[in-house]
Amino acid sequence: MGNFFPRWTNWLPLKLAVAAGFIVFGASLAVPYYFTPKYTRVGYEPTQPVPFSHKVHAGQLGLDCRYCHSFVESSSHANVPTNQTCFNCHGPGKGNIKSASPKLEKVIKANETGKPIEWVKVHKAPDYVYFNHSAHLNRGISCQNCHGQINEMEVVRHAEPQSMGWCLDCHRNPEKNLRPLDQVTNLNYKPEQLDRSAFYQGLLGKGVKADEIASVIGEGKTAKGLEDLLSLADTTYGKKVTQLEVGTQLKKHWQVQPPDSCTACHR
Ligand code: HEC
Ligand code: HEC
Ligand code: HEC
Ligand code: HEC
Ligand code: HEC
Repeated sequence: MGNFFPRWTNWLPLKLAVAAGFIVFGASLAVPYYFTPKYTRVGYEPTQPVPFSHKVHAGQLGLDCRYCHSFVESSSHANVPTNQTCFNCHGPGKGNIKSASPKLEKVIKANETGKPIEWVKVHKAPDYVYFNHSAHLNRGISCQNCHGQINEMEVVRHAEPQSMGWCLDCHRNPEKNLRPLDQVTNLNYKPEQLDRSAFYQGLLGKGVKADEIASVIGEGKTAKGLEDLLSLADTTYGKKVTQLEVGTQLKKHWQVQPPDSCTACHR
């Protein structure tokens, strides 16, 4: 009784929107359709003030995403780098990589005036949606799952719809996307490149019992140790490591449970 305005009043606009949705569309059957817009933002690709290429910097030069998006793992927000980060390489006296290039004119000017480059936003969740980068990256979801093959893009574009239906698709089946934490910013990651033995050894090393690992590979299966697990995985998944194999193990042993209640994403 302490709070005069109960928490749900924050919710009023959303509730009204939901109610309006029900009135307009009537039957609840219409709801999944309404919530899964067929329109998408896929392909949205604004023109940026500087022709900065992820293909060159993250692809060819192999810079890690976190070199520039430095807060992405520790904060809800993924920052875009300041001019200073660019000047680590393009600044005077720092090797001057193409500092005379016309394409870098605005970068140099920005450094002289101290004004940040006004990058155009590509991804933007509506204000009524709560989204947190670190909560995903620290649970084995990669930039690639949500932004596509950025390391191959000359100009960043929207690769995924980022609609509510899209968020929920993954929240209901996270095993389709989970990967080891050290692979989260490796956009060329493929599960079949993983060393099976090292993967299971890693789980055992974290104190997971061989039997528990075996029971994820197949119901009722048991194992005494690494050897048993390897032969079990071999017969179940084949010679190469698969996404399902990695995803189901990580989901179980990291206890990954993405929320699907309305209040998780609409606070
Ligand atoms: C050398 C610095 C640098 C590196 C390395 C880098 N980025 Fe970026 N990134 C930028 C800059 C600058 C922008 C803003 C301009 C643009 O959109 O291209 C940006 C924009 C983005 C955006 C779009 C932001 C928006 O407005 O929605 C995404 C997504 C992104 N980067 C992902 C990545 C990923 C994933 C990697 C690693 C594979 C990466 N970046 C590596 C500098 C970098
Ligand atoms: C780690 C070093 C490094 C950092 C940091 C870096 N760049 Fe670069 N950049 C390069 C290299 C190397 C090239 C390729 C030069 C070439 O093509 O020979 C390049 C090329 C470019 C070009 C194309 C130049 C041309 O004429 O083709 C632009 C524009 C550019 N960078 C902008 C940026 C911006 C903006 C940032 C900051 C967000 C940035 N760079 C950060 C190393 C870096
Ligand atoms: C689970 C999905 C997901 C993952 C994983 C993810 N992003 Fe994002 N990203 C989003 C969404 C959604 C937005 C829009 C967020 C908003 O508007 O608050 C966004 C926005 C951004 C932006 C724009 C920030 C701004 O305000 O200009 C950058 C940059 C970015 N992401 C980079 C990255 C990088 C780098 C990685 C990997 C290290 C990554 N993202 C991983 C979903 C994701
Ligand atoms: C590719 C898979 C994937 C996508 C896409 C995805 N999520 Fe998640 N989400 C996860 C996983 C995995 C977790 C972690 C669950 C856990 O920690 O047990 C999570 C956790 C969350 C949480 C709870 C953690 C927190 O910060 O409170 C929220 C909220 C959330 N996601 C919102 C979103 C929204 C909004 C979108 C769409 C814009 C989205 N997610 C898209 C996989 C995904
Ligand atoms: C995993 C995160 C997540 C969960 C859980 C979630 N939503 Fe959403 N919701 C979103 C995102 C993201 C959008 C914005 C979609 C877009 O911009 O295309 C959205 C949009 C909406 C909208 C506006 C729809 C429109 O087309 O404008 C309503 C209404 C809504 N949600 C209600 C709900 C209700 C009711 C629930 C519980 C049954 C719920 N949401 C659960 C992420 C979520």
